[in-house]
Amino acid sequence: MSPSHPASQPTPLGPAQTADLQQRAIAVAHHAYAPYSNFRVGAAVLLTDGTIVTGCNVENASYRLTVCAEQAAIASAVSLHGPKIRIRAIAVANLNDAASQPCGACRQTIHEFSTPDTIVFFPGEAGTVAQASIADLLPAAFLLNNS
Ligand code: THU
Repeated sequence: MSPSHPASQPTPLGPAQTADLQQRAIAVAHHAYAPYSNFRVGAAVLLTDGTIVTGCNVENASYRLTVCAEQAAIASAVSLHGPKIRIRAIAVANLNDAASQPCGACRQTIHEFSTPDTIVFFPGEAGTVAQASIADLLPAAFLLNNS
């Protein structure tokens, strides 16, 4: 990208917008169904049109059927807004005060609806909020080439 075209750079989220997304992720984590892990996770997805959709993890006695918060939020966003959604940013939070990065499956799910600039916020060390682009979190995403 040419440095002579600063307008083409993504507009970073402001601190208030970031805090709002974070708060929504925490709020929806209270809805989590996590009786097996007791690890309650929430995700808030900011779409490129400004809409925010949230989701939480939903576990199952048959453990592998568990749905992660990021996947729940994205499935809800597609259900509500259709298949063309693009994610500007996603905030992930848990109620355990634990540093935690999105799992590999969630990275692939985020990637499916990402732009080159999609930002992921997640719990860092000592209560901090860390952030990374989805390209950095999943540099070698699976792409389906079946033609
Ligand atoms: N979990 C998420 O919701 N998102 C992640 O990215 C990692 C893990 C959930 C799944 C399960 O309910 C609990 O956290 C413990 O693995």
